Amino acid sequence: MDYKKLITDSIKGDYDKDELLSLVAVPKDTAMADLCIPCFKLAKALRKPPQVIAQEIAASVDKGEFIADVQAVAGFVNFKFDNKLYGKRVLEEVIAKGENYGVSDEGKGKTICIDYSSVNIAKPFHMGHMLNTSIGAAIYRTYTALGYNVVGINHLGDWGTQFGKLIVAYKLWGNKEDIDKRGVRGLLDIYVRFHKEAESNPALEDEARAWFKAIEDGNKEALELFNYFKEITLKEVGKVYDRLHVKFDSYAGESFYNDKMQPVLDMLTEKGLLVESDGAKVVRFDESENMPPCLLQRSDGATLYATRDMAAAFYRKKTYDFYKCIYVVAYQQNLHFRQLFKVLEMAGCEWAKDMVHVAHGMVSLENGSMSTRDGNVVFLEDVLNTAVAKAKEVIDSKNPDLKDKDAIAEKVGVGAVTFGMLYNGRIKDIVFSFDKVLNFDGETGPYVQYTYARCNSLFEKCGEIGEEIDYSGIDNEESKDIVRLLEKYPEVLKDSARKYEPSVITRYVVDLAQAFNKFYFEHKINGEAEGIKNARLTLTKAVQQVIGNALKLLGIATPEKM
Ligand code: ARG
Repeated sequence: MDYKKLITDSIKGDYDKDELLSLVAVPKDTAMADLCIPCFKLAKALRKPPQVIAQEIAASVDKGEFIADVQAVAGFVNFKFDNKLYGKRVLEEVIAKGENYGVSDEGKGKTICIDYSSVNIAKPFHMGHMLNTSIGAAIYRTYTALGYNVVGINHLGDWGTQFGKLIVAYKLWGNKEDIDKRGVRGLLDIYVRFHKEAESNPALEDEARAWFKAIEDGNKEALELFNYFKEITLKEVGKVYDRLHVKFDSYAGESFYNDKMQPVLDMLTEKGLLVESDGAKVVRFDESENMPPCLLQRSDGATLYATRDMAAAFYRKKTYDFYKCIYVVAYQQNLHFRQLFKVLEMAGCEWAKDMVHVAHGMVSLENGSMSTRDGNVVFLEDVLNTAVAKAKEVIDSKNPDLKDKDAIAEKVGVGAVTFGMLYNGRIKDIVFSFDKVLNFDGETGPYVQYTYARCNSLFEKCGEIGEEIDYSGIDNEESKDIVRLLEKYPEVLKDSARKYEPSVITRYVVDLAQAFNKFYFEHKINGEAEGIKNARLTLTKAVQQVIGNALKLLGIATPEKM
């Protein structure tokens, strides 16, 4: 239902309806009006003061049954809806559409590539990746809900000299049984040992280089080990992805582009963009760009991370013919993406404008950093396990008789971490705190999940919603606030997608849960007259539906009980 249009349709005077429609807005103070039309922009064309225009518009309104009140106030036309009718329409729409409420087809026929998570082989899956993965997956689902064809790409970091080092380390000290069991932790141990021993034994570095060359040359043993390391890592991250409800359509990582870089380098050379610099090959930028040259080939002929991304961009355009190609990557790589996109533009790719770097911040733990370099790695799996254990403690104390406590604790613990990752604007750095994300009364995942589960207890207590619905049961400010939020949900999705900002959804769903809990506190449901009770239960049902829809987009489970 388009309520803005309904407003302009009610105006019978001789006005440009499209222009009026573009002016209709939600007022700052919703106690004054549900929608309003500020008339200031009309003053010039109509050659009248806005106050007068507002009065004339207001006087020409045919209120019908839906508009309860219309007033001209200080240059605004303020419209108030009939609470009961407005509530009825919104609730009926939410319930009729159910899981599809908020879904649209605005993206029909358009493909969006989204590169996210993009973990590194044989490196730990740590908290930074959690932020990246949660943001990327939420954006993925949101665009899917808006009808886009979305391709999720895990651009694995599966190339580089470190694989030579790993092979040397594995052959010297590796123990397959241990690595099969301990996965990346086992690989990390021998990798760290390599660096220690190489300090006193530089010959190891030469061996590592030789093994990396062997991988490049397709040596059977080298490739087997390379693939083994990859398999071990993917098995481990796969488990985490399952817990996070995350899936990918492609795992084409850096090594996938080994044979796809040369044509791109040739093309850039042909266009006169790729030039020699001390034996290396670079693309230089105009001074006004204020960027160092983009290095695409080292003097020894080796290609780089940027070279692979360049090849990947062309491959994606050719393969998917994307409408947008999104990279969810931390802001440390701002320069990399600016360079990448600029080179594409210089090479005459008109689609360079469709490339988007969705930058995000860093995550640290309350008591210290989490980067690999500090040797202070916090494995995401451990964080999830701790969150689940803590969620279990809370459940044990609040609701000891709950069935399936472990399964519920998993949903609450993992949901809490995910929600915590998505609650702030993505560009902000996050200081992660278990207490904060697991606070059942805070602006958190568990709080929203709890509200969802509370709806179920209400249905249990009150039984099915009966036929007779008296919408005067929701003719109050608390219900109206909820109805307004419910109506806004489809716009919230679009806004979140447009900004590549899942926090638009997390913030919204907290607002909705708070509004519902306020209503629940102020108004009785069980024990009210049948029609009133049914109206309030209908409201409850719609709230639960929309919370569920929103949490699903965020990748957060909805326990039926908590
Ligand atoms: N593997 C990289 C890292 O962990 C991120 C890759 C992002 N994607 C890309 N196409 N560059 O830093």
